[in-house]
Amino acid sequence: MHENVMSQLPNNLSTVWLGRKIEYFEEIGSTNDYAKSVSEKAVEHGLVVIADRQTQGKGSRGRQWISPPNSGIWMSIVLKPGFGLLQAREISLLTSYSIVKTLREKYALPVKIKWPNDLVYNQRKVAGILTEPSADGDSLKYIVIGIGINVNGKEFPDEIKEVAASLMSESGREFSRAQLIADILYRMEKDYEDYLGICSLKEIKNEYSRLLVHAGKKVQIIRGSFKKEAIAMGINENGELNVQYADGKKESIGNGEVSVRGMYSYA
Ligand code: BTN
Repeated sequence: MHENVMSQLPNNLSTVWLGRKIEYFEEIGSTNDYAKSVSEKAVEHGLVVIADRQTQGKGSRGRQWISPPNSGIWMSIVLKPGFGLLQAREISLLTSYSIVKTLREKYALPVKIKWPNDLVYNQRKVAGILTEPSADGDSLKYIVIGIGINVNGKEFPDEIKEVAASLMSESGREFSRAQLIADILYRMEKDYEDYLGICSLKEIKNEYSRLLVHAGKKVQIIRGSFKKEAIAMGINENGELNVQYADGKKESIGNGEVSVRGMYSYA
């Protein structure tokens, strides 16, 4: 489907403030980099930047995010929250939660979360989130939430084909990216407003934990070259992963500090 996302999207959108201004590019380096550069001049809360193709798509941990044309959702959202830097991580988890809930409830896709914010379908990664906050001391100036979703992609380069998949490759269905973007933004706006009421993941932590691909399973906690086995229990209200080691000791793990892997594969 060679869909013209920008001609469809405004008709589908039913948000109040999120995505009421959209900047669309056929091709761009990185929507996150663009969103950050405009926000350095003037922050527009709710601005959404979308590209059909990225030439310098950025993944987490300095990796590249492969973003070919006509196949995925490559978008960045700018928020100007009235809270501190610590909450940036929670917003990242909240975003993965909103996307997973949309895909499960509106599209009946059995997608799960790999903590902290990868989306996994049949043990393969279909989406990732790269959140880039900009702060003045402890207070946030703005936050850019970069969302990459492999939607209708059919082929993946050798270096990622063992772990990557698209919604189409796993479900056999083709999706309208414009409709999917509209559905995700609608859910995010609602979840974000609920979050603002309490500024914690208290209300969603149980449901988020239920959607974890590793819930109740053995994982490897990797800190540099040090690996340890644990059982993943779920998240706490700050978005840390609660794990329990074989000796019964419990720990809450903050994101960025470690990476968590399944015992035998990526998920
Ligand atoms: C990850 O590695 O899991 C995070 C991937 C984030 C990719 C998205 S695509 C839109 C936005 N712009 C970027 O350069 N990266 C993010």
